Amino acid sequence: MTQNRQVHLKSTPENNPEPGNFEVVSTPMPDISDGEVLCKTEYLSLDPYMRSQIAGRHMSGSIQPGDLMRGETISTVVESRHADFAAGDIVRGFGNWQEYSVHSANELSAQPKEISPPSYGLSVLGMPGLTAYAGLVWTAKPKAGDVVVIPAATGGVGSTAGQLAKIHGCTVIGIAGSDVKCDYAVKELGYDACINRKTENLAEKLTEYCPDGIDIYFDLVGGETLNLVCTKLALNARVILCGLMEDYNKPTRTPGPLPGPIIGARATLSGLVVYDFEPRRGEFIEACLPYVNDGRLSMREDMAHGIDAAPEAFCRLMRGENQGKAMVKVSS
Ligand SMILES: NC(=O)c1ccc[n+]([C@@H]2O[C@H](COP(=O)([O-])OP(=O)(O)OC[C@H]3O[C@@H](n4cnc5c(N)ncnc54)[C@H](OP(=O)(O)O)[C@@H]3O)[C@@H](O)[C@H]2O)c1
Repeated sequence: MTQNRQVHLKSTPENNPEPGNFEVVSTPMPDISDGEVLCKTEYLSLDPYMRSQIAGRHMSGSIQPGDLMRGETISTVVESRHADFAAGDIVRGFGNWQEYSVHSANELSAQPKEISPPSYGLSVLGMPGLTAYAGLVWTAKPKAGDVVVIPAATGGVGSTAGQLAKIHGCTVIGIAGSDVKCDYAVKELGYDACINRKTENLAEKLTEYCPDGIDIYFDLVGGETLNLVCTKLALNARVILCGLMEDYNKPTRTPGPLPGPIIGARATLSGLVVYDFEPRRGEFIEACLPYVNDGRLSMREDMAHGIDAAPEAFCRLMRGENQGKAMVKVSS
């Protein structure tokens, strides 16, 4: 190991990102000092918020051309000069889009040994799972019989939220971008129905599947879908505003929704930022680990291989072509 391969942003995309907006760069292996830990990246999480970082409009900061792409990782400790970590430990941190990373000890968390496979620490038992749990369980507070609608139904956050809603006895309607994804949502994830947003009339199908209105909308896409759903809310509906997949690749945001139907439904709209729930990560893992172990909660991971594959995998995610949580297995 003499070189550390990294992915840098090369240019800022105006619309959909392309692999040409990124470049793979070989850099010398980093040295570590006292108090630091050298990590080998095992898994890299690819997430839509990275598109906002590239666009310079994310709360965690921006990424400029020439910068190393940032991201959360599961890594193996290669060398440690801090008492809290030893070679061979599995850790979670922001190792970024590269094969090796150096951290001070306070930037790393030991990955609980119960999380198996380790990649689940970035998916169903990681940030996307925490987002789903915080939004659905802690914020929307589902009751048995509630009608829950979830777009991006088979992705990292959506598939976890959908399975959790079923565990809570809800009727769960997904929205997804292909028949293959809709089949997976119903047959594997347990959704009661799934609407193909590209080939079916969303307004008609929502009326058919939710004749008494929508009790919980877990919004992962914003845009015109949010505007439409807000006209179909049940009394005392809860809307979790969580993501903007319909807008991330656009230079401007879709306006809306109209307040009238929201007032009529006495609905509650809650903005969700997963960072706020980080102190409760242990509580979330404790609650969800039994569901994972008994098979009620699973995650399909869309795994690319090798750091060179990260740009195309990220572009696929932003085109909506990922089949499950987008990730890269970095080490071979
Ligand atoms: N607020 C927070 O703290 C927080 C934390 C984590 C994630 N999020 C947000 O949650 C959402 C889901 O994140 P995720 O990581 O779980 O991603 P994901 O669902 O695995 O992937 C994104 C999915 O969005 C769907 N999509 C809908 N409209 C789209 C469009 N116009 N263009 C491209 N894709 C579109 C696609 O699925 P279909 O083709 O099946 O529709 C795509 O697969 C994102 O908006 C993300 O930013 C927010």
